[in-house]
Amino acid sequence: MNVTSSVAPYAARKWNLSGLRGISDATLELHFGLYEGYVKNTNLLNDRLREIRAAGKASGTDPSYAELVRRLGFEYNGMRLHEYYFDNLTAQPAEIGNGRLYNALGECFGGFDEWKKDFVAVGGMRGVGWVIAYRDLTNGRITNHWIDDHQNGNLAGFAPIVVMDLWEHAYIKDYKPAEKGRYIEAFFANLDWQACESRL
Ligand SMILES: [Fe+2]
Repeated sequence: MNVTSSVAPYAARKWNLSGLRGISDATLELHFGLYEGYVKNTNLLNDRLREIRAAGKASGTDPSYAELVRRLGFEYNGMRLHEYYFDNLTAQPAEIGNGRLYNALGECFGGFDEWKKDFVAVGGMRGVGWVIAYRDLTNGRITNHWIDDHQNGNLAGFAPIVVMDLWEHAYIKDYKPAEKGRYIEAFFANLDWQACESRL
């Protein structure tokens, strides 16, 4: 049996997000291309790792094998986090309203506005990464977190609720590096609260 053909590759998804406020179609086009690169590289890495296992050559003491394993977390999360991000954007955003998500986000912060203030504050961190409002599935609490690259800082057993890309490619065509705050405002202007609520 050919072990490399026994697992279906990941398929790149498509989104129609044209017409976002403050995030241009040119930015989206660039961003979708980068996302597709993560899907492609996740599949390539998985294929290569399967080949090495099938050849009986998997060894954590082999630096080239170890690096492939390490890269998988970066490429896979690069793929998956972008899917969460594009899924929680919409050109027809609705107000969040005073409902289940509104209350859940505010629970650990003393209110929704305080949660949002904290989310924006985390977004002001230097470097590239992600801000994610994560829900701890063991107790339902939602807290805000910074993810370095794509793989460092994700919490075990936590589910992403609100996912914001803060790599420069997410806004550099539309804003200067010092204008990151305007991109964060644009993110909230296009945030699909219903998509976020469906993740609760
Ligand atoms: Fe991105």
